[in-house]
Order: sequence, then structure tokens, then C-alpha cells
Amino acid sequence: MGKKILNNVFTAIDIGTTKICVLIATNTPNGDIELIGIGQHPSYGLKKGVVVNIAKTVDSISQALKKAEDMAGCKVEYATVGISGGHIQSLNSTGIVAIKNKDISQEDVDRVIEAAKAVPISKDQEILHVLPQYFKVDDQELILDSIGMSGVRLEAQVHIITGAISSAQNIIKSCEMAGIKVSDIVLEQLASADAVLTESEKELGVGILDIGGGTSDFAIYKDGRIMHSKVIPVAGNHFTNDLAIGLGVPIEKAEELKKKYGFVWEDNYLDLDKDSVEVDLGYQGKKKKVETYSLYDILQPRAEEVLDFLCEEMVNFKLKSFMPSGLVLTGGGSILTGMKELAEKRFNLPVRIGIPTRYKSIDNKNICTVPDLLKNPIYATGYGLLIYAGGHNNSEFSFSQEGSVFKKVFSRMKSWIYDFI
Ligand SMILES: Nc1ncnc2c1ncn2[C@@H]1O[C@H](COP(=O)(O)OP(=O)(O)OP(=O)(O)O)[C@@H](O)[C@H]1O
Ligand SMILES: [Mg+2]
Repeated sequence: MGKKILNNVFTAIDIGTTKICVLIATNTPNGDIELIGIGQHPSYGLKKGVVVNIAKTVDSISQALKKAEDMAGCKVEYATVGISGGHIQSLNSTGIVAIKNKDISQEDVDRVIEAAKAVPISKDQEILHVLPQYFKVDDQELILDSIGMSGVRLEAQVHIITGAISSAQNIIKSCEMAGIKVSDIVLEQLASADAVLTESEKELGVGILDIGGGTSDFAIYKDGRIMHSKVIPVAGNHFTNDLAIGLGVPIEKAEELKKKYGFVWEDNYLDLDKDSVEVDLGYQGKKKKVETYSLYDILQPRAEEVLDFLCEEMVNFKLKSFMPSGLVLTGGGSILTGMKELAEKRFNLPVRIGIPTRYKSIDNKNICTVPDLLKNPIYATGYGLLIYAGGHNNSEFSFSQEGSVFKKVFSRMKSWIYDFI
């Protein structure tokens, strides 16, 4: 007998460069997220966060989806999915309008945001998110909520994120071919930020860097709003490839070595229990001796390169003053031994590793409501997407409407104005 589609169930799919992760959950009566299904499968169809092989991507999504549905014991129809890749661009823009009836109404706010959206973007790009930062009413600056205020001139500063139309289309297509409809596409670092940052970090000002397999996704929050975002095209897979080439070992062995013995902060060498390891090359019984210190020699410059990209961005846009709470590293690449210490030294800022964490106060005690299984930086995006999916009712979005699915997903995305603030 086929599985049933249940109400009150929502799904997130993190289509990563190294893994596809499907999470199915339901809301409990007290507002918690209860995970009922998880399915993961290696991802073979992506490069640097972008779908490059539809058939392989469809296969990986189908496998992960099946595992999650089997565990949940139900079938799912819709999912919220993430988007990243070198094609993602962002900019801050300003719009100005005259206030219609002295007191600012929702209509004035909508008009000023529409005005701020009027920036030239290239033909192959589509606006993914328009996220308000601050409003200015006459001469009064840095207003977070302008509705109800009096004045004659309203100004809005917004953060606009755009992505390649074709990349988003390929994500939607791959999911549909795997048997699931896309209800929303969310920029991956926005999802990761929702999963790992605390409200006070976001208020005070903090940076988040999700170091995945194909891309390192950066964002800055202050006053609870996103101030800046950037996708850096270097991440965990580059570290692994460097090791494979540098040591002359197969990729799978390089990946194993990186996870087990890799380090990028020199002091960590003292913690290793081995000076050298023997690597089975996987053919004709051949073996190779690898000095563990040589992993540092190869990995450390790559780690510096990721931090160089970040540093350049921070200098170019004068971002450090927005980050008094420091930098939160997440994604699988953040688990690499010494990454935290290296970033701390480089930026002279507090750095922590972010794992999905949601606290709920019970009798003044903070209880973490994230299932133990997901308390790992590799699930930051997936869990963030799940939080997003839980807050949005798919039934309000009908696929039976006229027009292409793609157009509908995008029009829905652009109406998210207040979702991430
Ligand atoms: N223990 C570990 N030590 C070092 N690196 C690790 C460890 N565990 C995972 N990684 C690395 O993390 C990367 C995968 O991270 P993650 O699962 O966040 O990426 P992804 O979401 O698939 O990719 P992307 O977000 O770039 O599309 C891989 O390069 C993997 O080698
Ligand atoms: Mg990822």
C-alpha cells in the first residue's frame, strides 16, 4: 500500500555539493519542531553549489527522499530547498518615496521597498530576496519599524540578493523529477544563520561563515537584520583535492585523512597520536607512508585562502565594526581541526563553531529543542530550511494556478520581505 500524505508535515531539502539531506518534521502542539524523517545521500550532480548534472542530482534527491519518507512513514509533496553558488550576488540599495497621508502606512512601506528594488541587474539574474535593513523618515535615521511614524519623506535601505535564473530552474527541475514540488528557495546562509545564531548575536552584530563542500557562504547580521552577504567559491572539497594531489593519494583516502588527521593550526600537531600513517592506495596492494605534519603544510594555505577572501570582503565593505559578537563558523568545513583558532588569530575576533541550536525556556532553564542527530555543523542549512518550512504553510500556495512553477516560486520569494527580519 502506498504511503499517505499527512497534514501538518513540512520538508526541507539541503541540496549540498557533498550531500543531499532531506528532513521531514511536524509541529508539536507546544510549537516545537518534531523531526519525523531524515534521509541523506551523497551528492554527485553538483559543482561549487550548482547543479551540473540533472540525472545524478535527481537520483541523489530521490534516494535521500525515499529514506526520509520511509522513516517518517508518509509521503511528502512540497519542500523548501536551499540555493548557493558563485552566481549569487548581493547589493545594498536605497529607495525614496513621499509619504501619502502624513502617517506611514504599510502601503508606503511597500512602495518604498518597491522603489529600492529598482536596480539594474543582468538579464540572466533574478531577484531572490529583498531584505529591509533600515528606514529613514525625514532626517531621522536607522529606524527599524517605520509604520505609524509621521513625516513627509520615507527612505528604505534594503539588501538585495540575486541568483542565476538557470541555477534556480535546475534546482526546481531536479526536485520535480525526483517527485517533490518546490514551495520556496532560500539562500543557504540565511537558513544556516536561522539555525545556529542566537537572537542576541544577530542584534549586536555577528558574521556567519558556512564552509560547505563547494562554497563558503558568508553573511553579516546587525540589529536583527542582514547587512551583507557573499558566496566564496572555495570550501572543503578544495582542501580534499589539494591533499589528493599533494600526497598522491585517491580522493576518498584524502577525505579520510583530512577528517582524521587534518589540521590547520600548528599547535594541534601536538594532539595527534601519530607522526605518520600508512595509506592503502587501493590498487595492487600498494601502500604509501604519509607524514601527518605534511597535512598541515597542504591544508593550512587553503584555510588561509578562505580567510583571505573573507578578509578582503570585510576590508572592502568595512564590515568588522558590524561584528562585535564575532564570527560563527558552521558547515562541514568548520569541523576541520584548527579552523576556529586560525580565524580567531586572523580577525582578532571571538570565533565559535555553530551547531543547530534552538532554545526554549522552561522554568527559566534553557532547553535545546534540536534532536541530537542534527547537532552537527553539516546540518546547519538543512535545519534552517526546516525552521523556515515550518513557519510557512504550503497550502496557501497553489500549484494549480496559471503560469509556470518557476514564476510562482520566484514571485513568492520576492514577497518574503519580512520573513528574515
Ligand atoms: N570532521 C571533519 N573534518 C574536516 N572536514 C570535514 C569533516 N566533516 C566534514 N568535513 C568536510 O565538510 C565538507 C562538507 O560540508 P557540508 O556537508 O556542510 O557541505 P555541503 O552542504 O554538501 O556543500 P555546499 O554547502 O558547499 O554545497 C566536506 O568537504 C567534508 O570533507
Ligand atoms: Mg551546505
